[in-house]
This record gives sequence, structure tokens and C-alpha cells, in this order.
Amino acid sequence: MIIKTHKSIPNSEITDPVVFKQRRQLIKAMLALGITGSAMYSDFSNASEAKWQNLPKGYQPKAALNATSADIVKNHTNYYEFSYNKTDSTALAQALPIDPWSVEIIGEVEKPGVYHLEDLLSQQTLQEYIYRFRCVEAWSMVVPWIGFPLASLLNKVRPLSTAQFVKFTTLLDPKSMPNQADSRLLEWPYVEGLRIDEAMHPLTILATGMYGEALPKQNGAPLRLVVPWKYGFKSIKAVVKIELLKRAPLSTWSKSAPNDYGFYANVNPEVPHPRWSQSSERVLGAGFFTPRRKTELFNGYADEVAALYSNMDLRHFF
Ligand code: MTE
Repeated sequence: MIIKTHKSIPNSEITDPVVFKQRRQLIKAMLALGITGSAMYSDFSNASEAKWQNLPKGYQPKAALNATSADIVKNHTNYYEFSYNKTDSTALAQALPIDPWSVEIIGEVEKPGVYHLEDLLSQQTLQEYIYRFRCVEAWSMVVPWIGFPLASLLNKVRPLSTAQFVKFTTLLDPKSMPNQADSRLLEWPYVEGLRIDEAMHPLTILATGMYGEALPKQNGAPLRLVVPWKYGFKSIKAVVKIELLKRAPLSTWSKSAPNDYGFYANVNPEVPHPRWSQSSERVLGAGFFTPRRKTELFNGYADEVAALYSNMDLRHFF
């Protein structure tokens, strides 16, 4: 279900033409993002320092995931700052200025600061992560993201031992994000949060691209979170602030409808949304007669993440 790793494969071992093509796509993506070749091979040791180092390198999926057509993923988006329907953000989001972009990292951290995105990216190695993406609305798709582990960024700014949670905030810019002028449905800016161990988990990434190209604006450019075992609303777009906190932040959806959207939002077929079942999902792009897919606990990533919740009642902490 996950990572096609490129960083540890010497050129001489790349014989598979598919792998070769993906590598070229990555290079193309990095050029589009203005990232130099040296960055691609830059040091990635922080990730292996993490306590997750026992996750095998070049971890292979249990079952091959076929990516959803890019056309669907780019034109069926949830981006409420622009539109409350799934099609209009594709055009509306093009007005969002994303260059230059900086990310403020503050709170319980040794090296707080406002970092230019290019500087953050120049320290990272981009990889492709093919993840199933499951929306709380009971549809799913499979997206080949390009990005890097959030842990690799956090390790560089050195969270203090008091950092228990991480809060993420989207850009506030009502001029280019028209719905931010209207706070009837949601309070702006969009805010999400993770527990620190969730944030440091190697499956949690910051994405800068998809399908071998720079991330489309409607999908959260230039930088978004992707947490594959949680409902899609946790995967916040257009991140401008990351705060390391002692206490759990109140996320946008939990604040607006606490009974519908919990802080954890782990994909779970046994815990229904108050108004619909989560036991199955509509697979976007599948034929009309294709049956719904059975929802998997933690969206199929239980082997990797269930230990994070071993002593928790998942019905209570939904
Ligand atoms: N982030 C921001 N800032 N604003 C949003 O409206 N929607 C969330 C999440 N991140 C959203 C957001 C929801 S509900 C989902 S399902 C996913 O983004 C959708 O990601 P996609 O549009 O790239 O498929």
C-alpha cells in the first residue's frame, strides 16, 4: 500500500523500466518545484533516527494499489475555502498565490522560525507514496503522492520533550480564498492536529506533488499533509503554520460538529458517522456496477499504526 522508495537505490540497480520512468517523473516534479538534483540525494538520516526505524526500508505494499485516474483526483476535490462543491475548486484555486511560500514553525521546539518552503524542501528527499485516500464521506481513491515524511522536517527543528501534539494551519487569505469571507459553515483558517507520535510516524507525509508532477493548487499546493490511515479531512491543505503543542488543538471540523468529527478520525468500519455507515466505501473511478469496497480498519494500514492506539477505546476516541 505504500512507498516506492528511490532514495536508496543506486543507479546501477535500477533495471525495471517502470521504476526508471517513475524516477524520471520525480526528477520532472522536482524541476517543476525548483528543487535541485543535489536535494534529491540529500541526507535522509533523520527518518532512520526515529524510533520507527524498524519499519523496513523500501517497504512494499501487501497488495498492489492501482492509482485512480489523475483526472478524477484533480477534479473531485474538497477545498471549502474555495467551494462547497467538488468541482469548482479546480478553477477557483488557480487564483491562489503559492510562490513565494513560507511555513512558520513555533511552539515547543528548539528551532522555531519562519522557513522559506524552498529551504525546507532543499533538506528533504522526495519520494513517491502510493496511498489509499479515504474520505469521511465514504468514498476512496488511490493517489501517488510525492513528498517526504513529516518526521524528517520535525526532526530538523527539534521538538522539545514537552511537545505532545502538532497543530497545522492553512493560509488565511480571504481575497484569494472567497469562502473565508463567510464563516457560517466553518471557522477559518482551517486547522488540524495530530498527536506527536502520529506526526512522527513514517507513513505521515507532507506532499508537494502527485502523479509525478507538482501538486495542483486545488489539491493543496504547495504543501499539504497526508495521513493515510485517517479520514481525508485530517489531510490539511496549503499549510502555512506548524505548531508543537503541550495540549491537543481543537480542529476545524471537531469544533464545528464535535459529534460527527472526532480528533482522531481513524478510518474504522465499526464506527459509523452519526448519519451514515462507514462499513463500505465507493471507489472513485470504478465502474457503475462495481460493488462498494469494504472499509478496512485504519484504511488498511493497521499493521503499521494499530500499535499507536493499543490501549484506546476507538469508539470513544473516534
Ligand atoms: N484542507 C483545507 N485547508 N480545506 C479543506 O476544505 N478538505 C479536507 C482535506 N483538507 C480541506 C482540507 C477534506 S474534507 C478532504 S476529503 C481532503 O482534503 C480532500 O483532498 P483532495 O481534495 O485533494 O482529494
